[in-house]
Amino acid sequence: MNTISNPDIEMRVAALLQCMSLEEKIGQMTQLTLGVLGGKFEPDERPDMTIPQERLDDVIAHHKVGSILNVADTALTPQQWHRIVSQLQQASIQATGIPCIYGLDMNHGANYALGATILPHNINMAATFNTALVRRSAEITAYETRACDVPWTFNPTVDLSRNPLWPRVFENFGEDAYLNATMGTAAVEGLQGPDSGNIDRFHIAACLKHFMGYGSPVSGRDRTHSSIGEMEMREKHFEPYRKAICEGGALSVMVNSTTNNGVPFHANARYLTRWLKQQLNWDGVIVTDWADIDNLWNREYVAHNKKEAIALAINAGIDMAMEPYSTDFCTLLKELVEENVVPVSRIDDACARVLRLKMRLGLFDTPDTCVTDYPLFGSGEFAADATRAAVESMVLLKNNGTLLPLKHGSRILIAGPNADSMRALNGGWTYTWQGQLTDDFAHGHNSILQAMRQRFGNEYIIYAPGVTYAQHDWNDWGRENEPDFDSAVRAAESADVIMACVGETSYCETPGNADDLHLSANQRELVRRLAATGKPLLLILNEGRPRLIPEIEPLASAIVNIMLPGNYGGDALAMLLAGDENFSGRMPISYPRHHGAFIPYDYKKGECVPTMAGAYNYDATVKVQWPFGHGLSYTTFEYSGLTADRSVYSPDDIILLRVKLRNSGNRRGKESVLLYSSDLVATVSPDNRRLRAFSKHHLEAGEEITVEFSLPVRELAFVNPDGEWVVERGEFRLSVGTEAITVVVDSTGIFD
Ligand code: BGC
Repeated sequence: MNTISNPDIEMRVAALLQCMSLEEKIGQMTQLTLGVLGGKFEPDERPDMTIPQERLDDVIAHHKVGSILNVADTALTPQQWHRIVSQLQQASIQATGIPCIYGLDMNHGANYALGATILPHNINMAATFNTALVRRSAEITAYETRACDVPWTFNPTVDLSRNPLWPRVFENFGEDAYLNATMGTAAVEGLQGPDSGNIDRFHIAACLKHFMGYGSPVSGRDRTHSSIGEMEMREKHFEPYRKAICEGGALSVMVNSTTNNGVPFHANARYLTRWLKQQLNWDGVIVTDWADIDNLWNREYVAHNKKEAIALAINAGIDMAMEPYSTDFCTLLKELVEENVVPVSRIDDACARVLRLKMRLGLFDTPDTCVTDYPLFGSGEFAADATRAAVESMVLLKNNGTLLPLKHGSRILIAGPNADSMRALNGGWTYTWQGQLTDDFAHGHNSILQAMRQRFGNEYIIYAPGVTYAQHDWNDWGRENEPDFDSAVRAAESADVIMACVGETSYCETPGNADDLHLSANQRELVRRLAATGKPLLLILNEGRPRLIPEIEPLASAIVNIMLPGNYGGDALAMLLAGDENFSGRMPISYPRHHGAFIPYDYKKGECVPTMAGAYNYDATVKVQWPFGHGLSYTTFEYSGLTADRSVYSPDDIILLRVKLRNSGNRRGKESVLLYSSDLVATVSPDNRRLRAFSKHHLEAGEEITVEFSLPVRELAFVNPDGEWVVERGEFRLSVGTEAITVVVDSTGIFD
């Protein structure tokens, strides 16, 4: 466990708490949205960003609210953010002596700051299988967020995206527990910097979200219930939180809006207090998601009214309510304390956690930052890192024959609704919540079409989209204009190669719900018609979740999944297609093939078995379009000689593994080496396989290296029906690339 508590801070918190009134303590537990402060904070309107005094008086001086979140309508410049936050700081310090903590969803770079470096979304970052890139991207996000005078982000998101229909798949690091845990921890380290107990002015507090199991909605729709058993909850969904807190020092957690097996997470004392705070011995802040105390009574019906809902949530372990509109919370919680329904000790604990967070961020000593201290904001240096992240995140799913890299001098028809859209490259959480204004704000960045023109020469690029997205409100993201297939097909006549850029446009959260995961009918028809011309077809998938393409996949000679690579995605793709860079991304999620078969890669062995002859011919199959971990390169890598240092281990041992990796092709490239384990027989039906470690290596053509892994045997453990982590004696298969060996664990071990 990484201990970050600082005796000096603890003394200051205790002393301050003693002098605070109940109202002041409750104010620290309250978070409101910027809109409540009145006025419209748009870049052109009210350029001085003045918050009306009467609102400051009501919210800060009277109700003593200690935290504000959110963007009003669109992103603002760092100067404008500073203007807003510094007014809040001044008013807060004047009213209570305690600074305000401002929080923003800076999910892929400082995406609510105009001119900031917009990075790939987390699903892309996971596809890089490069923890150093994740850490670096988070450092950039932290720097540019702090440049805006904002010290807290609601990121990283570490839900396991286990239902591909879910509209928030792209916000996470894929479907796997280990990948989310490892990348989430790296992101926390990058955001919070070297000392989580004393964060410097270039770093910010992270908020892991959404605790937990949010990515497994039974219906696939946002904010709908899950049905996860305790063993899976502990073994998989809890794991990213455990690791990012115990190893990364994450300072805050946001709670899942929904219910699991009928119990709302916001009222689940067992998960919030027992698992998170007590078992991890964690002194951070638990904040609700948007209006989720209200949702306990008016959506989930576990309380009759708001007051009951507040009691449930606070007694379960919530420290801060993202209300976000009303100060009723303050009044009602005070009544609950006076009526002895919520103990004062709970209020003191919650308030102490918030004060500790503010102290760890240095806000008491330096409430504001100064924009001029951040000369690297939006710099070329950061852009180069963002481009590298985008390059390493793109996944070459298919490359039959020699279509890629594209030959210079070929005439390329670029078609599809995603070809010329910065909105589509960035997805939601870009300049606005739903990302619908990105094309207005991403000045100076290249769409796929623009980047291809620059890289291959204007004269070689023909553009005929065939299908376009309608200009529409954010809440109707899927709408397309009347298609014009004929002009695209005609344009194909003069082309040597067709590049169809398809997928989705931006959305996030509930507005992004989808009834059907198939790629839209228009886009599939466009691809069919273009393929019918007989010209070689390259399919570019630009989407926040994997859209089904079983009938058009065979029509394409090459397919690249770029997901949501951000503002530098067009440039990164052009470099890869030209062969200036090599592909190295791998799928962090299984790409499904059929609507009725959404099965993550760590399925139970019994889900995929051969036909059993007899009275009934039972069988089971798992059919995916592309499996988790899939990703091609322009070169080839060969694995050989996987060895372990022994063949028999005890539960406390560490397995040392070595495997030879050779770049057997004729181009340099990077290879992500993924280590999987399979427990061959166990008292709980084992998962087919589990990712246990990975590392990424650059190899010149012909180069050979030895890759090593140290795998503690305890990491092969599963959670048994008694909630214990157990590794049972028996055989385990360990595999890397094409290589596999079996090792034996000689006795059973139980771990905390
Ligand atoms: C989302 C969270 C987000 C919060 C604040 C909610 O609707 O679920 O992910 O952090 O809003 O913007």
